[in-house]
Amino acid sequence: MTWKRVCKVTDVPENTVKKFTVDKVTLLIANYGGGFRAIPPLCPHMQEPLEESGVIANCALTCTKHLWSWDLSSLDMLGETERPLQSYEVKLENGDILALIDKELVYEFEDEDDIKDDDFFSKA
Ligand code: FES
Repeated sequence: MTWKRVCKVTDVPENTVKKFTVDKVTLLIANYGGGFRAIPPLCPHMQEPLEESGVIANCALTCTKHLWSWDLSSLDMLGETERPLQSYEVKLENGDILALIDKELVYEFEDEDDIKDDDFFSKA
């Protein structure tokens, strides 16, 4: 496991989310005021890019697509949210944000077009 430098602390203003790529791993840095989180770029619900759909207010990251939301200080799920947010460990060093990237964190998504081909074609 290695600590990787992602960006400067000043690159991510309070209550914003920014996308970075470190050694081919794409991740978002979220500044929620009380600290930073490093998270995968896609919403765990339906793969919305959180750097576009995500807003941060009162320590909570909300995906504006269907309003799933997580407390960024505790990583608790809020409201109707059904999946936890994955995150990389972060630390601050000399004004930089470092993330502990062992392997890329990804969510498993069900294929939306997952029609059973057998059922579909057997009637033809
Ligand atoms: S895609 Fe983010 S809440 Fe649905």
